[in-house]
Amino acid sequence: MLHWKIKGSGKEVLVLLHGFCEDHRVWYSLSDELQGFTLVQIDLPGFGESPVMEADLSIWAKEVDAVFKAEGIEQFHLIGHSMGGYVALAYAEAFPNQLKSLCLFHSTAYADTAEKVEARKKQVDFIQRNGVSPYVQQLIPGLFASDANRTLLEQQLAQAKEQSVVGLCAALEAMWARPDRTAVLLEAIYPVLLISGSEDTILSLEAQSELAAMPKQCSWTVLKHSGHMGMLEEPKLAAQVIKEFLARLA
Ligand code: MLT
Repeated sequence: MLHWKIKGSGKEVLVLLHGFCEDHRVWYSLSDELQGFTLVQIDLPGFGESPVMEADLSIWAKEVDAVFKAEGIEQFHLIGHSMGGYVALAYAEAFPNQLKSLCLFHSTAYADTAEKVEARKKQVDFIQRNGVSPYVQQLIPGLFASDANRTLLEQQLAQAKEQSVVGLCAALEAMWARPDRTAVLLEAIYPVLLISGSEDTILSLEAQSELAAMPKQCSWTVLKHSGHMGMLEEPKLAAQVIKEFLARLA
């Protein structure tokens, strides 16, 4: 069973799925700005306090669903950061009727390119030979905008160093094996929110604008001072974007 943490007790339930090398703590700053909701912050397989599981995002989505069953939660707004967005899409594919809305926060519905798959395989090799610390030391600074707050970056790096070799390697495999899920956006029966960062070096705004054109109902916001970590880089603005999106659905 996965580990999760609930904050707040509002009528509307927001589920938060973190990204790669993160755990539920990545949402703390944003959560402080999201008063009045019930926030379900889940540690994905192999991260935080959750056990490592098979490297398959569809299986991870079922594990996420087990959390809702355990909590008696039937309908909610699902928010996924990057890798968490890939899990959110796998979840939406399997259980579309449970979603009130879907938010991809610095994420994509496209599958990995062949180059990306090769790069991930090399990363697995690197992590297995050298451990987590030197890997995340290279990775994390590049996720933030160029003028990022050093303390925030160091805090994120420290949390990334706490993750495990097996957890990171299973996640890399699960990500490279995931299929294209653009059909989930094209066929979405719920409103979709896309949040991007103008300084994100992983996701191009061109590709994000293609995704934004797919759902029948889509809102798209670009955070001007964020890289790939808007929930930490601009938590107040990100929360405002989410609250305004949710208010329009009410
Ligand atoms: C993440 O932040 O979760 C990663 O950038 C996802 C990825 O490597 O595709």
